[in-house]
Parts: sequence; structure tokens; C-alpha cells
Amino acid sequence: MVRRRLVSGNWKMNLDHLQAIHLVQDLGLRLSDGDVVGLDVSVHPPFTDLRSVQSVVEERRIPVFLGAQDCSSEDAGAYTGEVSPVMLARLHVTYVIAGHSERRRLFGETDGVVAAKLRAIVRNGMTPICCVGETAEERDAGTARDRLVTQVSSAVSALVPEQVAGMAIAYEPVWAIGTGSAATPGDAQEACAWVREAVGEVAGAEAADGVRVLYGGSVTPDNTAELVGQPDVDGVLVGGASLEAPSFVGIVRAANGAR
Ligand code: 13P
Repeated sequence: MVRRRLVSGNWKMNLDHLQAIHLVQDLGLRLSDGDVVGLDVSVHPPFTDLRSVQSVVEERRIPVFLGAQDCSSEDAGAYTGEVSPVMLARLHVTYVIAGHSERRRLFGETDGVVAAKLRAIVRNGMTPICCVGETAEERDAGTARDRLVTQVSSAVSALVPEQVAGMAIAYEPVWAIGTGSAATPGDAQEACAWVREAVGEVAGAEAADGVRVLYGGSVTPDNTAELVGQPDVDGVLVGGASLEAPSFVGIVRAANGAR
């Protein structure tokens, strides 16, 4: 099966709503429909920017999907400070990141919490991008594969195989995030193949064939083509380089050209 590529920009805790409007307008000026033929692009602003970005994207028909960086596992109730997946869906959010390593590491999200969030995202008709990845210590100790298999198995077990086939999993090695040293295309391919294999073990061959596996960690316009040229790398999850229109559009074009 031909998996449609996905290029997602995770803005993290950057850009207020005015800066966000400016960035999507700039994306709109630079991105033509031809740039996104055959691939999907999503932007993941902070929650406070979502409504503004949604308005600009819909008014100007900018060819990007709206994404969120996280959401609650609950639909409504006494959960002070949380953001409901129901509310995200009402804003036409399509993709929601779950289990980013920063949330796991800094906010104590366990595999169990991530699994509950995945169910909430799917229950509300949105597509999860579940992040997995090993630390530098795990990599050095030779336990990277075990770590990935544990994270992927827990995530995939939360959903039925058809839902797994429609989701995305982002392999983001913690040592490559924000460091300027991306995984080599060969290392990214090896890890993304482990991820797909782990999906197959739990959810079956069709789910493994359908799931989109992204690479994330110091992605730039210069390294994108080779990364997405790997057979098991179906796109990229971009942090820093998604904060400026020229570099993000460069990544989109590189991902689109490398087929
Ligand atoms: P960088 O692209 O800044 O390394 O961030 C990657 C990331 O964490 C995306 O979710």
C-alpha cells in the first residue's frame, strides 16, 4: 500500500496568537496546492492560538490541517487546566500529538496516560500522532529497541487495528530533539522499521502496512529528502524548523519531491 506522507510542524510553547496568524499567513503565501499534492501537512500551535489559526486557514484556504500538541483523556468535567478533545474537534483540529517526549519527561506522562489520550483523540474523530523514542542512555545501553517496542505496544493496544492503521507514530529519539544532530537516514529507517514491526505484532499486518511512521528530531530542509526517502519513514515531525515559513515550506517541498 502507498502511504500518504505527513509533514507536521510542532510549534511547542512558541508564538502568541498574533505571531501565529503571521506565520500561517506567510505559509499561505508560500504554499501552493501543488506543494501538497500527495502529502498532508499539519501545524500544531499552542492551544491559545488555535482559534486564530483555524480562522486564517479556513478563510484563506491554506492547504494545511490544524493540529494540537496534546489533549485531555477526558471529554469534560472537573479537570482544571486541561483541554478537552471535544473542544479541539469543534475547532476542526484534525491531528493531535500524544506522548511527546517533553510531556513524558517533564510532565510525567506514562504509557498508560498516553494510551488513554489516544483513545480520547480517536473517540472524537481526530487522528493521533503518538510520539515514541529512546533517550541517549538507552541508546548507549543498547536498549533502544526494547524501549520503542514497549511504548509502541502500549499505544497500539489502546486502539482497534483499523484505528491503528489510520494513526501516525512519530519516532523521535530524545537525543536528536533540538540538538541539531538528527539521526542518520539509516538509523531512522532501522528504528522506524522496528516501530512498524511492533505495530504488526500487536495489531496485525494491515495495521502495520497502513500506519504512518514519522521521524522527528532536528529535521531541516536539507536532511528531509533523504529521511523520507527511506522505505519505512512516511514523513517528519518538525520542531524548530517549523517556526519560520521558509524553512517549513522547504521541508514540505523536500518531502514532496523525494518520492
Ligand atoms: P526539533 O525539530 O526542534 O529537533 O524538535 C523535534 C520535535 O520534538 C518535534 O516534536
